[in-house]
Formats: sequence, structure tokens, C-alpha cells
Amino acid sequence: MAHTKENGNMPNAHLHELLVDEMKDIMGAERQLLKGLKKLANAAQNSTLKKAFEQHYEQTENHIERLKSAFSNLGLSGRGKKCKAMEGLLNEAEEIIEEFEDSPEVLDAALIAAAQKVEHYEIASYGCIVTYAKLMGHTEVKDLLGQTLAEEKETDELLTQIAMEEANMGETA
Ligand SMILES: [Fe+2]
Ligand SMILES: [Fe+2]
Repeated sequence: MAHTKENGNMPNAHLHELLVDEMKDIMGAERQLLKGLKKLANAAQNSTLKKAFEQHYEQTENHIERLKSAFSNLGLSGRGKKCKAMEGLLNEAEEIIEEFEDSPEVLDAALIAAAQKVEHYEIASYGCIVTYAKLMGHTEVKDLLGQTLAEEKETDELLTQIAMEEANMGETA
């Protein structure tokens, strides 16, 4: 690799625009997700699942705050842009809620599927952002958004656990 050390010049400066673009995309996505998580929490039958969605709503508010800090660390305004992928994922979540709202025994499994697709999108986005920040020597951005990445992964694992232990088991817990 041509530049691996910070020596006054920012290493891997060719990634700058991409980093900023990905940060704007995920900022928009997180904002859009707030509404989506409300709907998921309202639709959830199982109380553990409902709590998990409510808890992730609060985490998501914090993810937005971390992104704001990351933008200001780069000397940029934290304006996001509409995330078409998140819009699509949330549209599908609404479709699946409508399709299964009269089948409570399978609705929670459907909600978990929709939510895990969202988490995997976020994990991919933050994973790339953290990699770019690391390569560019943006240590604070890397650390801040690395915490968010860890929370997205934990949420994904929690959803799998709820699916295995309660929500997908064919009985209301
Ligand atoms: Fe998030
Ligand atoms: Fe998330």
C-alpha cells in the first residue's frame, strides 16, 4: 500500500468522497429507520421482541448523534441524504406486516426477518465506513462509528436469539 502512515498528509485521501457519501447515506437511513422501528415495535406480539425494537429505537437515536459527532470531527455539516435502500427495506417491512397481521403466530418471525435485513444493511455500511476511516487515519470517526457497528451486530444477534428462544416457536411467550 502506498500510504500507510500519517505524515502530515492524510493517508488514502482518494477515499474521502466515498467516506463522506457513505456517512450521508447511513445518516439518512438511521433517520428513516426511527419511523420503521416504531411500526415494528407496535406490530410485535412477543413482549421480548417489542422491547428489543424499543431498545434499538433508543440506540438508533444515539447512532444519529454519533454520526453528527463524526461529521463535525471531519469539519463537515452532518446533513444526510435519503437512503433508497432503507426506503425499500422499510416498504417491504410494511408489506410483510400487512400480509401477516392476521396470523399472529407467524407475524413476529416476519418482523424479525425484516429487521435483520435492516441490521445487515447497517452492518455493511458501518463496516465499510470504519474501514475507510481506519485507512485514512480518522481515529475518532473509526472509534465512534465502530461502537455503532458493534451495537448493530449485537442487535442482529439478539434478534436471532429471540427468534430461536421465543418468537418463532409457534406459541405466544
Ligand atoms: Fe443504527
Ligand atoms: Fe440498527
